[in-house]
Amino acid sequence: MNSDQFLQAIRPYGLIPVIKLEHLEDARCIGKGLCDGGLPIAEITFRSEYAEAGIALLCKEFPELLVGAGTVLTPSQADAARSAGARFIVSPGFNPSLVDHVLRTGTVIIPGVSNPSQIEWALEKGLSVLKFFPAEVSGGVRFLKAVAPVYPQIHFLPSGGISLDNVREYLALPMVSACGGSWLTKAGTAEGIAAEVRKSLNLVRGVADV
Ligand code: 3PG
Repeated sequence: MNSDQFLQAIRPYGLIPVIKLEHLEDARCIGKGLCDGGLPIAEITFRSEYAEAGIALLCKEFPELLVGAGTVLTPSQADAARSAGARFIVSPGFNPSLVDHVLRTGTVIIPGVSNPSQIEWALEKGLSVLKFFPAEVSGGVRFLKAVAPVYPQIHFLPSGGISLDNVREYLALPMVSACGGSWLTKAGTAEGIAAEVRKSLNLVRGVADV
């Protein structure tokens, strides 16, 4: 998968569930809830010790799910994620050695940016799909409106502080392809997650490309 294919895969949904696994077995109900709710995407963060095993479990038990790794800080985490089956790697900031490493492996890398210098470092690496993090405290929609005319080739995936209250404002912006958020998988049961996912998809349907 390359970054264009990644964009095509996420655009119809407009949402990227960002998940910290508190227990490995939570992966099963999260995978089921996401698939039943109609949002087959999961970014499993390396904020917990279960990231690698959780990615492997989701890839094995839910082959329809597009599984990636989030909060990747080091090349060895990226390698572990890729070996476990992750098809995209997300980092909170722009770490040049991590970006170079992941590019060499051919996996999609989506580094986080929150200012023009970081955007230009990404451009220099040939990247055009970037996480905007932490979105709300970095200026949110106003930041994106200010930088988009300068960098029209960049597709942003805002994350951090996004919820049902503000997600439509982000998705209405042409430079935003999807928003990341942890709210989607907090319910604790597969049924609860599927319900939250359906509610969220209904809310964003009709905004921009979604
Ligand atoms: C991320 O890593 O993308 C964010 O921490 C998710 O932020 P949220 O918990 O505010 O949705």
